[in-house]
Amino acid sequence: MDSNGKVALVTGAGRRVGRALALALGDAGCRVAVHYSQSEKDAQETASLINSLAPGGEAVIIQADLEDPEQVESLASSVAEQLGPIEILVNNAAVFEQTGLKDVSVDDWDRHFAINVRAPFLLAQSMRAQLSPDAAGQGTPAQSAPGKIISLNDWRTARPGRFAYGVTKSALSGLTRTLALALAPHIQVNEVALGAILPPANIALDRPREEIKIDLGPADRMGTLNEVANAVLMLVHNDFITGETINVDGGMHIY
Ligand SMILES: NC(=O)c1ccc[n+]([C@@H]2O[C@H](COP(=O)([O-])OP(=O)(O)OC[C@H]3O[C@@H](n4cnc5c(N)ncnc54)[C@H](OP(=O)(O)O)[C@@H]3O)[C@@H](O)[C@H]2O)c1
Repeated sequence: MDSNGKVALVTGAGRRVGRALALALGDAGCRVAVHYSQSEKDAQETASLINSLAPGGEAVIIQADLEDPEQVESLASSVAEQLGPIEILVNNAAVFEQTGLKDVSVDDWDRHFAINVRAPFLLAQSMRAQLSPDAAGQGTPAQSAPGKIISLNDWRTARPGRFAYGVTKSALSGLTRTLALALAPHIQVNEVALGAILPPANIALDRPREEIKIDLGPADRMGTLNEVANAVLMLVHNDFITGETINVDGGMHIY
């Protein structure tokens, strides 16, 4: 795919990894919908940075709580109204709560599934409908316009300490592979599974970060936002990879 002029939606793009991906797509010529939930100021800043890119960066910001299926649907239609049909979808937004099996509640479970799995599923359905000529009564779904879906996953999904998060990220892998078949051959669906890139935003530390020793695996360092963005851009540009997981984790998954 030539990314120039393509419409890209990045969820949770106000800050952190999502912002880096929105900026990279803007830099690759995409017209970017910067989705946010709470981080309006950050989302405005992400969009301004994209709008200031030469030549002719273009971004809009759209608010939606991805826990609410109606807001997910209106996010997709709002992108189509403001920029055109979604051609590149990056499922970055996620919840990552520290709750183990003993304490995880039905509400925790449902919230993780709604945001981390159901929202990507609903956005894929909307994207398929937007890209299918049959949506406008002009043809069959088999003649869909090309598209890309890339979801952000985690190198480790079996995580007893973040029980619901881990299970949803496993489910997200299943969604990736099933969508890859359901949307073939026109939309490629892949995921990028990250190792340690940024420490969790809401983590409460009782010691300075530099004193905390964590095993960073074979690479013995954290990954960079550039390394994540490069993997996502590779999947945008390559049209023959689908149903794949690219681990950007410095080798943690084989450690
Ligand atoms: N950071 C890492 O090192 C790392 C490692 C492994 C995997 N990952 C994966 O990479 C992705 C990005 O990581 P990150 O650390 O940058 O994520 P993050 O900061 O924990 O969350 C990203 C965004 O998700 C959005 N979000 C949360 N609840 C939402 C809701 N109800 N509705 C809409 N949006 C909601 C938030 O948007 P607002 O701020 O606008 O509310 C938030 O900025 C995630 O999928 C994560 O699982 C990251």
